[in-house]
Amino acid sequence: MEFQELLNKRRSIRKFADRPVESAKLLKVMDSAAYAASAMNQQSWFFVLIDNKSIIEDLAHLISDGSFDPFYGANNLILLFCKEDNIAPVIDTTLAASNMMYQACDLGLGTCWIHRVKDIFNDPKYHLLKEKMAVEEGYSCIGSLAIGYYDQKTPEMSERRRDYFSIIK
Ligand SMILES: Cc1cc2nc3c(=O)[nH]c(=O)nc-3n(C[C@H](O)[C@H](O)[C@H](O)COP(=O)(O)O)c2cc1C
Repeated sequence: MEFQELLNKRRSIRKFADRPVESAKLLKVMDSAAYAASAMNQQSWFFVLIDNKSIIEDLAHLISDGSFDPFYGANNLILLFCKEDNIAPVIDTTLAASNMMYQACDLGLGTCWIHRVKDIFNDPKYHLLKEKMAVEEGYSCIGSLAIGYYDQKTPEMSERRRDYFSIIK
């Protein structure tokens, strides 16, 4: 997809189809993170790709009261972790996550950043869960990306501010 088209097309998806995503596509999304810029090339990120709906449902129960599905029916979820004592861990990891969102879009997949997940993974109460997911000590969670196919038309872009820069000559 041409870059401008990709910018237009990547929108947060809040209704995923119950259709499995091919492993090759998921791996391509994971691979795209490696191309991101990072402070001193520290590549502060670690990701957990959850390719198991029932684990995602269990996480949904932990972060919501059951009145709605915080993952919007996604079959896959990418947990975003960063190495706390690096120079700019949150920024590095966010840039890598951005790569993944655009790579997913280029492959015909939707994504949505789901923030609250971080409260579970940063809560010492759930450290065993983190351990089970092979996340090393010293990494904290900054959020997650729900990812999957979606059936509806890509949502229109919500209103954007255009007054966000100045030019100095
Ligand atoms: C840090 C961050 C946290 C977000 N958290 C959520 C969330 O918890 N649930 C959700 O539905 N969308 C969440 N979003 C998606 C934003 O609402 C969305 O990006 C914004 O409304 C702009 O829409 P667009 O992504 O379609 O361009 C989050 C986005 C970011 C960058």
